[in-house]
Amino acid sequence: MLRKEQNDLLTQTGPDTPMGRLFRSSWIPALLPEELPENECPPVRVKLLSERLVAFRDTEGRLGLIDEFCAHRGISLWFGRNEDCGLRCPYHGWKFDVTGQCTDIPSEAMNPGFATKVKLKSYPLVERGGVLWTYMGPPEKQPPLPEWEFCTVPPSQSYTSKRIQECNWLQSMEGGIDSSHVSFLHRGDINSDPLFKGAKGNQYNLADARPVFEVVESPGGLYIGARRNAENGNYYWRITQYVLPSFTMIAPRGNHPVHGHFWIPIDDDNCWTWSFDFHPTRALTDAEFAAMRSGQGIHVKLIPGTYRPLANKDNDYLMDREAQKAGRTYSGVEGFGMQDASLQESMGPIVDRTKETLVSTDSGIIMARQRLLRAATLVEKGETPPGVDTAHQRVRSVSIVLPPDQPYKDGAREALIANPGVAPSTV
Ligand code: FES
Ligand SMILES: [Fe+2]
Repeated sequence: MLRKEQNDLLTQTGPDTPMGRLFRSSWIPALLPEELPENECPPVRVKLLSERLVAFRDTEGRLGLIDEFCAHRGISLWFGRNEDCGLRCPYHGWKFDVTGQCTDIPSEAMNPGFATKVKLKSYPLVERGGVLWTYMGPPEKQPPLPEWEFCTVPPSQSYTSKRIQECNWLQSMEGGIDSSHVSFLHRGDINSDPLFKGAKGNQYNLADARPVFEVVESPGGLYIGARRNAENGNYYWRITQYVLPSFTMIAPRGNHPVHGHFWIPIDDDNCWTWSFDFHPTRALTDAEFAAMRSGQGIHVKLIPGTYRPLANKDNDYLMDREAQKAGRTYSGVEGFGMQDASLQESMGPIVDRTKETLVSTDSGIIMARQRLLRAATLVEKGETPPGVDTAHQRVRSVSIVLPPDQPYKDGAREALIANPGVAPSTV
């Protein structure tokens, strides 16, 4: 349970908020490369951390993320003409380059120096590992580019998608670190989804619906260990990685790709759910790519031409009561991603955490909130929060069977670090 002030602090990420400054300490995913496919392609509206921006790829292929609104009289530059190395406002022809610098004011042709004094807010936009990343913090504190393993392996080993989620980032993220719900919400899919089925660990998962949680602080966030019974008194551990502010990596299953998420605030009532799938040491198969593109595993089917899920709150997530009754799906909603999103959106845009009743399986969520509150305090003091250092990003989630007397932090010590070329620890 949180006090109202704490809930407000954790859920508000606009400019000049503590959590907003925490998100503005790191590179965050902003767009997929497919949204800006070629030079001079149409600009894209982007809302992030409650700021309205427009992204474009100029004549030379440079990427820009600038204030959505023209410095002259506030027209949306989404209407702009992407031409000759800049975005030209269609109202009176003012032109801006990828840094937001005004480069032409046709009506002031006799006074060319005037344009140099006009500049829109802008943020860097950089492609890396199938994602266009931005950094929205103070330029003098810009960290090195992200080194999450999924964006450093060859493209053949990685796939990333994004979808709009119509609720606050924190309740979405809390679902990502709550591995106790897997034995319930996802139990209908775990043995049938092509990106999950067949792993030995699934049997432990389904046989023991009362996991014991052990959460340990990591350099960048938390190791969230969930322990279930295995054979001969041993324990099956699933260790989720949480790195501040909103990176999660779910424990792997068999030789399937490993997956995880980022939850990036659009504004306080909506977020982007970014879903990545990768394998540290092998190319993904055609069948795996096809399954991901068709919305299986943690990915979802989208309304064509948009990033809004096909199953959404306007159609009750295509609820299928018969499938629920028959146990084909536990909640009646199809697919891991929408099973999660439907329930998280059902809490309302921002859940009232003063009313919740937490239990021991929520210890990961409780510690993540504490870590976030502490990190926000660090940022307020001008210090660098966890998760910004690229060493904090080179992590792996783990599934492993260990003897009962071995702490997972020791038994999985090496496996928790991303080690290029070394096979992941998975059951
Ligand atoms: S409003 Fe953009 S040029 Fe006038
Ligand atoms: Fe889930």
